[in-house]
Amino acid sequence: MEHSKLFTAVGNKELTFKNRVFMAPMTRGRSKDQVANDLTATYYAQRASAGLIFTEGTQISAQAVGWTNTPGIYTPEQIAGWKKVTRAVHEAGGLIIAQLWHTGRASHPDFHGGQLPVAPSAVPFNSQAFTPEGVKPSVTPRELTIDEIKATIADYEKAAQAAKDAGFDGVEVHGANGYLPAQFLEDGPNKRTDEYGGTVEKRARFLLESTDAAIKVFGPERVSVRLSPRIPYNDMGDSNLEETYMFAVDALEKKKVGILHFMEPAALPEGLKLLAPEARKRFSGLLVLNVGYDQKSAEGALQSGLADAITFGTLFIANPDLPERFRQNAPLAAADTATYYSGSENGYTDYPPLA
Ligand SMILES: Cc1cc2nc3c(=O)[nH]c(=O)nc-3n(C[C@H](O)[C@H](O)[C@H](O)COP(=O)(O)O)c2cc1C
Repeated sequence: MEHSKLFTAVGNKELTFKNRVFMAPMTRGRSKDQVANDLTATYYAQRASAGLIFTEGTQISAQAVGWTNTPGIYTPEQIAGWKKVTRAVHEAGGLIIAQLWHTGRASHPDFHGGQLPVAPSAVPFNSQAFTPEGVKPSVTPRELTIDEIKATIADYEKAAQAAKDAGFDGVEVHGANGYLPAQFLEDGPNKRTDEYGGTVEKRARFLLESTDAAIKVFGPERVSVRLSPRIPYNDMGDSNLEETYMFAVDALEKKKVGILHFMEPAALPEGLKLLAPEARKRFSGLLVLNVGYDQKSAEGALQSGLADAITFGTLFIANPDLPERFRQNAPLAAADTATYYSGSENGYTDYPPLA
């Protein structure tokens, strides 16, 4: 591909990415005791040819945990574990940012000694949790107090500082897929009547304050925010998705956030408007798009100016050298879904690069 944009560099004042084939954040469930380890370092270093790696969701506190064997970033052991990872990725010539995760109501009492998970409001919802004992139905969460909300924002700042101490190149606030910041943003899960609920300004406050916490530590260019208006995962819903999410995008633009990581399939069911073009008009930082892209559609989104880079998820699981495979038009390996979230090296670090 002579005029390909996928392999051109892109960046901002703080970060330069060597290509636009980014690796999407993916939970892999290999962190026993919530600590990233040597195997994690091998896995990410194998994928360091990506222009940028987003780590798997990484819990910011004990309260944030909601998935089995996921890593945290709030204890000295966890920071030490991540140091191995950032060192290995940097030595392999890559860049890596940590995805800061709070699962909120998507967690389960099994992670909290029987206590309820937390959320903006105690609204029943229909989803499931990946507990140590297997998949269980979600429970109705309890409502966070204002003091707890402030403490959670402080947890984001501590986690961002921990990420900096661990050598990460930046952080991403996970505001997608129905986790805590999205639970505040959308009016389905958020029924509060205080300063964190009601109008879109108030519902967006939690997302924006957690983003500010990350900016305090890293500065805006090294901060990414992930949003997924069109992904109803975790039983999400909002009565005016476009207004809600474009309010958030405008606010992130005002903060000069470096990366907007926007999840939206390139083709939507009939009657649904694509929001990525709207986001593009409003956001002047790096717009990174995801969900369902292949090399051709990614190239198209870059050529049209819709996106500055694309994240690839499942393709990076089985193709550690994905940029090189794209370059050579080489065959792509298929990932084994049975080992997505569990196992050891198997289905994790044993996918070979091209011969
Ligand atoms: C095994 C697996 C784990 C995932 N874990 C996360 C995660 O921790 N955080 C997140 O934001 N998205 C997560 N996702 C979503 C991916 O980042 C990505 O949005 C999704 O795979 C769609 O991109 P793709 O079509 O290129 O695969 C996960 C996806 C998969 C397949």
